[in-house]
Amino acid sequence: MKKIVDAFDYAGDICKAMKKGILLTTKADGQVNTMTIGWGTMGVEWGRPIFVAYVRGSRYTHQMIENSGEFTVNVPVGAFDSKILGVCGTKSGRDTDKIKELNLTLEEPLNCGVPGIRELPLTLECKVLYRMEQTLDTVPQDILDRYYPNGDHHYAYYAEIVGAYIAE
Ligand SMILES: Cc1cc2nc3c(=O)[nH]c(=O)nc-3n(C[C@H](O)[C@H](O)[C@H](O)COP(=O)(O)O)c2cc1C
Repeated sequence: MKKIVDAFDYAGDICKAMKKGILLTTKADGQVNTMTIGWGTMGVEWGRPIFVAYVRGSRYTHQMIENSGEFTVNVPVGAFDSKILGVCGTKSGRDTDKIKELNLTLEEPLNCGVPGIRELPLTLECKVLYRMEQTLDTVPQDILDRYYPNGDHHYAYYAEIVGAYIAE
């Protein structure tokens, strides 16, 4: 069962949950992968509800989104096993099937091709409208020093939130 919700009713909860981490899930060439994210933005552009994800070029997830142009955002509701965020934030889908290792339950998608994850049941279904390579030329020095010592910059994916549900 899925309860259809308005993503903006949960914007505060989603932004607060990002302090500990939420998941960003992708599917490309039949493979599902998920990674922990701590950064993201919700808002409106082009008259559409938008989630912006910030993914470093080194992530397998970057390659997956470049291939598919879609992702889901998966947010915990209540208690959950925080080990999920640890594994998904340290291991790469290049060499580990994180879904299998953690025995995560995939939820059939409604409005895009990417499943949700029942263990983190609040799901935003997102289709990329615009991507921006965040080159480092205008980034302030203190941020460069702290976040980009080896130049592995982010790509910002501006995605329309085409659906939102809570898996029950
Ligand atoms: C709490 C936490 C937050 C993170 N946030 C981000 C993020 O916003 N963007 C990013 O590119 N990587 C972030 N990471 C790192 C990725 O989750 C990590 O590199 C992951 O192993 C990448 O998986 P992949 O290679 O399968 O894409 C975060 C890690 C943790 C633990």
